[in-house]
Amino acid sequence: MDLSRQEQETLDGEEGEAAAKAMAILQAVGNIYGADKLIPVTSAQVAGVSYKTIGDAGLEFLEDFASKGAKATIPAYLNPAGMDLKDWKRMGVPKKFAEKQLQIMSSYTKIGISPTCTCAPYHIGIRPALGEHVAWSESNAISFANSMLGARTNRESAVSALASAIIGKTPNFGLHLEENRKAGFIVAVTARMEKMTDFGALGAIVGKIARDRNPAFIGIPRTKATEERMKSLGAAMAATGSVALYFAKDITPEWNVEKGTPIETIEVSQDIVDEQKAVMQTEKGAVGLVAIGCPHCSIGEIREIAKKLESRPAGKSLAMKLWVCTSRKTKDEADKLGLSKIIEKAGGLVVADTCMVVAPLEEMGFKSTAVNSGKAATYLPSLCGQRVKFADIEELLN
Ligand code: F3S
Repeated sequence: MDLSRQEQETLDGEEGEAAAKAMAILQAVGNIYGADKLIPVTSAQVAGVSYKTIGDAGLEFLEDFASKGAKATIPAYLNPAGMDLKDWKRMGVPKKFAEKQLQIMSSYTKIGISPTCTCAPYHIGIRPALGEHVAWSESNAISFANSMLGARTNRESAVSALASAIIGKTPNFGLHLEENRKAGFIVAVTARMEKMTDFGALGAIVGKIARDRNPAFIGIPRTKATEERMKSLGAAMAATGSVALYFAKDITPEWNVEKGTPIETIEVSQDIVDEQKAVMQTEKGAVGLVAIGCPHCSIGEIREIAKKLESRPAGKSLAMKLWVCTSRKTKDEADKLGLSKIIEKAGGLVVADTCMVVAPLEEMGFKSTAVNSGKAATYLPSLCGQRVKFADIEELLN
């Protein structure tokens, strides 16, 4: 990959050790993937925040990087941490974990990454425009940015997104190039797609068969395709596979299906979706935790939960723990609107900055968790040792 004179000077250390390291990371990534040059990006979204996922090695790397003067030069945002940064005690997070998590946050703050701590930045107004190049690293956020917004990002790693935050650029390859933003197969959906779990299950099915191809959906009814449901579809495809871009007829801003080129079509019926839902159930009995908000809840989803809890029979409170996971910004809004209070009165908790997958569930003693998310249902057994119940909000709250 060619570097400009200024980029070469950065690599040679003229802007300090941390910037040189960041440039070396981007150069290595660019060389591996055959990029021709670096291109500017308008924002970076940095994963690798939870102490559970990055551990002591990650913490040491960040502390070292911060001490060497690493500084973000473009707007940069953080993915969820391992706990609610303000209310971790109420969540039941062990003190030792919390201390390490706060150290991680302090390094990111020194580097100048905004502590948004959300995997759904698009719900809090961070929405790159059609054709805008960004460097994001959380898989559902990547999918949403590419597909629902028509922005352009590769599946950055935590480290390459951090390097982009510092340099303000990314290697020009993959989904930054028009030629790679074409549909690789059609998914003809005949399932009814009436529920959130239909979208999660459809995503889990398509992710498994997509390989390196971009799926193009036909048949998803426009009226059923809310942003929340489409984020669930994208999140599940990115969890069971590595889908970073999809198209959906009359829904996504891009529809790059080449006319006249034969392309494989697979049909997904309601029976197939229902079968997938059954596969995702590994817990038939009671669960220890009901966790909603993967990806992080929008204010609309929190309103829906509060409304359902408000209409419960008088005097009835929740029989088990409920977490409603969201960003700090959305939680603040829910607090102002009185929604958090309704949820807490019923016995639940609106949990900011974290989620059921990156929080230390096992350490906290949970063995089985109920979710309405295809992505969480995919990750909870392998990453958190949980048995899973997969159902829609209504059923989970009942
Ligand atoms: Fe977000 Fe956690 Fe799900 S980071 S996409 S809520 S696994």
